[in-house]
Amino acid sequence: MSISSGRSDIIHHLPPDHLERSLRSDVLAGLSTSPKTLPPKWFYDKLGSELFERITGLPEYYPTRAEREVLELFAGEMAAACPAETLIELGSGSSRKTPLLLDALGQAGHLRRYVAVDVSDSALLEARNELAPQFPGLNLDAVAADFETQLHVLPREGRRMVAFLGGTIGNFEPTARARFLSGVRELLEGDGGSLLLGTDLVKSPAVLVPAYADADGVTADFNRNVLRVLNTQLGGDFDVMAFEHVAVWMPQEEWIEMRLRASRPMLVRLPGVGLEVSFHEGEELRTEISAKFRLEGVVNELESAGFSVAGQWTDRQGRFAMTLAQAS
Ligand code: AVJ
Repeated sequence: MSISSGRSDIIHHLPPDHLERSLRSDVLAGLSTSPKTLPPKWFYDKLGSELFERITGLPEYYPTRAEREVLELFAGEMAAACPAETLIELGSGSSRKTPLLLDALGQAGHLRRYVAVDVSDSALLEARNELAPQFPGLNLDAVAADFETQLHVLPREGRRMVAFLGGTIGNFEPTARARFLSGVRELLEGDGGSLLLGTDLVKSPAVLVPAYADADGVTADFNRNVLRVLNTQLGGDFDVMAFEHVAVWMPQEEWIEMRLRASRPMLVRLPGVGLEVSFHEGEELRTEISAKFRLEGVVNELESAGFSVAGQWTDRQGRFAMTLAQAS
């Protein structure tokens, strides 16, 4: 999300002001209602993407390592079950785990193309610079797009595998999740395509909560970054450090919520959207949900969206799952 960078080696399918407009409408909708919310995709400017990279290396934040372990153990089986010509990765970020899949798909058959899809231009550029020398024969496309609303810009040719890793699907609420899965199913119509889905699993809050409230405060800094993004993009005057990081496990919903709690009453101006937003002391702004799953729940949701499940794997400790589902 470098909102008007115009980088020529990234494919921008939509008007250059698209991200800016959707940021404005998300902020208007999210901050003028109660309780206040902001969607997590606005964390990821250059600094936010760097902070997320740091999170993935924290001792408390196991999902990245657990998913890497699943890929190390089973990417060969996944690729053999669903060989593809094109790998499309949604929310690809740094593409750090992608080589495991690209290698496996390369060995299984006819991989020709990798399409990285992310809202962060900086992450897309860095990922491409990393991957290009490692995979000289592969066509690499970087698409700056929002996977929630822009699946229609993605390639429809050939046999495709869509990968949605990291547990990012947990950012959707259940209805949005069902809509998203149906959208991916529709994108894959025709060529025997597949979806490889990474989901973090329900476990003790004693493990889950510290993963979202690390001792070094990196996650707190990442959480507050959304306010910095609003300051930069909308001319806002959030006093970023006046908001405390909160991470709570919601047992009913089975998701982690991240919030920012106002430590004193505040009036915040956001000239870019013509808003003045007031916070009372202790008021919480919800910035992210990260839903956790059960193995059979993932299967049910995929089947409801019209997929048939070809395989499901976890890391050795059963913390994180990857599910491979065929579109037909
Ligand atoms: C990138 C959405 C998978 O929910 O675990 C990490 C984001 N937020 N720490 C997650 C996140 C706080 C992450 N996802």
